[in-house]
Amino acid sequence: MESTNLKHENGETYDRESEVKAFDETKAGVKGLVDAGISKVPRIFINPKKTLNSSNIISTANIPIIDLQGIHGNETKRREVVGAVGEASETWGFFQVVNHGIPGDVLEEIMRGARGFHEQDTEVKKEWYTRDRSRRVVYNCNFDLYTAPAANWRDTFLCVMAPNPPHPQELPSVCSDILIKYSKEMEKLGAVLLELLSEALGLHPNYLKDIECNKGLALLGHYYPACPEPDLTFGTTKHADNDFLTILLQDHTGGLQVLHQNQWVDVPPSPGALVVNLGDLLQLVTNDRFKSSEHRVLANRCGPRISVACFFSTFLLPFSRVYGPIKELLSEENPSKYRETTVKEYVAHFQAKGLDGTSALLHFRL
Ligand code: OGA
Ligand code: NI
Repeated sequence: MESTNLKHENGETYDRESEVKAFDETKAGVKGLVDAGISKVPRIFINPKKTLNSSNIISTANIPIIDLQGIHGNETKRREVVGAVGEASETWGFFQVVNHGIPGDVLEEIMRGARGFHEQDTEVKKEWYTRDRSRRVVYNCNFDLYTAPAANWRDTFLCVMAPNPPHPQELPSVCSDILIKYSKEMEKLGAVLLELLSEALGLHPNYLKDIECNKGLALLGHYYPACPEPDLTFGTTKHADNDFLTILLQDHTGGLQVLHQNQWVDVPPSPGALVVNLGDLLQLVTNDRFKSSEHRVLANRCGPRISVACFFSTFLLPFSRVYGPIKELLSEENPSKYRETTVKEYVAHFQAKGLDGTSALLHFRL
């Protein structure tokens, strides 16, 4: 055992890497631990920041809720919504939308599908377990399990849904049909949101679509099992999203918080609503006008908590389009704050860094 592998936790010294590896090799995730009846959080999950209770000021501010009813046809209503979207994007980087046009039964069905994936027979589920990011479907526990300082109390499956939509046979059979159906709805809503965001920037409605902010779509089904000691770990540690735009559906459990003016604000579950947040790449192309806010998910005692996140970005696909601050938004008073990069370079940096609580954007700042 090399001493460089030894980590300290509560005064104990241990070989973290081999404990992480042993856990990873179970391919059963955090759910596997909970199913086995553990009553303590294994030390690889213990987050010193959580134990010290740092940065835990809770604010009672409310994240904006934007009603999309009437934006296609009612000019006054559209202007109002564009104003609200712009304001929320500049100040919060987070908002919820209602009357977004996605039928309630589709929302329910994708939640059942995500739960169904995680709760199916473990032996069947294990076949999807991988750290090979070139696969179309990736199920694992923490994409950054080997690099992050502490593991998160969360299992995730990720499906690349666009470009090149998968055949149902390539997807987990418990949820293949709804994955395809829900993704189509997400592509429509993503396009509408990018139009509103473009207009809020004073650009042509098609601007952000034309630069292919919605060319790729990855769907993540998160499963946050009930945690016996929720004060010791996180469901998801503080991070900003590594995409252009995220549309999130969360269940009724709660626990998602956004950092706003240095205080944590709850993003309350609201039946039928979708949470929209802007990712680092949108902050980069808007030269910091729009915010990619940091957020986290608390571990909870009464889970499982389920959420479905749709990430608009091309991730590690070999697209060579170069992104930098949009020229039309720059001026002598507002010079470019970022160097140009590709989605591939940005995401590679984000993934190598892991969810360590720092911003991946800093690396690209001029
Ligand atoms: C994410 C994320 C929040 C949630 O997938 O990046 O922040 O509620 N998810 O699961
Ligand atoms: Ni996120």
